[in-house]
Amino acid sequence: MKSLWTLAPKVTYLNHGSFGPSPLPVQQAQREWMQKLEANPMEFLVRDRETFIDNTLQQLGEFVGARATDLVPVRNATVGMNIVANSLPLAENDEILLTDHEYGAVQRLWQKRTSAAGAKITIASLPAVFEDANAIVDAIFERVTDRTKLIVISHVTSSTALVLPVEQICKRARMQKIPVCIDGPHAIAMRPLRLQQLGCDFYTVSCHKWLSAGFGSGFLYVHPRWQHKLDPPIVSWGGTPYGRPRTWQDEYLWLGTDDPASFLSISAALDFLHEYGVEQFRKETHDLASGARRQLLEQLGTAPLSEDSNHWYGSMVTVPLPETVDVPDTWTGKPHPLQENLWQKHGIEIPVIKWNHRMHIRVSCHLYNTQDDIDHLLHALKTELA
Ligand SMILES: Cc1ncc(COP(=O)(O)O)c(C=O)c1O
Repeated sequence: MKSLWTLAPKVTYLNHGSFGPSPLPVQQAQREWMQKLEANPMEFLVRDRETFIDNTLQQLGEFVGARATDLVPVRNATVGMNIVANSLPLAENDEILLTDHEYGAVQRLWQKRTSAAGAKITIASLPAVFEDANAIVDAIFERVTDRTKLIVISHVTSSTALVLPVEQICKRARMQKIPVCIDGPHAIAMRPLRLQQLGCDFYTVSCHKWLSAGFGSGFLYVHPRWQHKLDPPIVSWGGTPYGRPRTWQDEYLWLGTDDPASFLSISAALDFLHEYGVEQFRKETHDLASGARRQLLEQLGTAPLSEDSNHWYGSMVTVPLPETVDVPDTWTGKPHPLQENLWQKHGIEIPVIKWNHRMHIRVSCHLYNTQDDIDHLLHALKTELA
């Protein structure tokens, strides 16, 4: 499969989870959309754009088990989460409940939003090893109070690459009438999604990770009970060129002039995945990740973050590094020296991540990765950690 990607020959790319490159047919489709735009911007932007976007939303909706009319395009999951944070009414002393596995930028944006309102963030610490869904759900709901206004959880966590039991969490939240916003950029393609059935209030997605669509493509799912309560952070015309009946989506479909080629490339990415076989993709990438996990744990002598099951991790896995690996006190924005050495000396792109006062390494396995990449990583780690 590697020949379908255009990764530089010298790179061993094990970081699809952060930034997922597209295969050639998707790159080609994106280029064609751009050419169409350049051929006649009036035709494209005024007369056709709306239909092109509707068609992509329709195809996406079928894939994620949601109505196209409950989705809006956004550049990425971060933008989606910001729309939710800007819209949620918050009063003094209200609480937003997050887990200790949430993505740094998500924590930061909720920190900013809550402090502006005199509200606060509560963090639920999840079990050290993921093996029992009930224990995870209990750990979250133990922190719920009558001031909890929203639960924010990842579907697949960033630093730890673990899958949260989102179905059980949403079910219990509905019983307690607490809205749930799922931070889901890693889940699309990696995990089966049935958003309408899940019953969450919001679900944010980046399609430039596991789905391998063009960079800067994503969407936000909003349950109908929230659609007319959202407050769009960017205000534009809020209407459609041909005056079709107004919907809540209008506020998000035109945010000023833009190039929608990356969003429209989602169709080609879905076609590519379907052609390969969605289940086949999940199985092959999980098997590679599972083997990598076993070999890394053995070589590094560290303990796993979960039971060995695709219930708890999919195409990406995080393994703790030995305690001897230096843990920086504060985040300087610079990559960890081990991450830097893996790239500089071995050509391996892989994140070395601080989580829970310990350094970890996160391995992403996509269709272009092979056991050779894992062997190269194992060998490089042996050298670097000797
Ligand atoms: C769990 C999680 N949430 C949100 C994001 C942000 O995604 P994006 O940069 O595509 O907005 C990431 C990125 O890695 C992530 O891992």
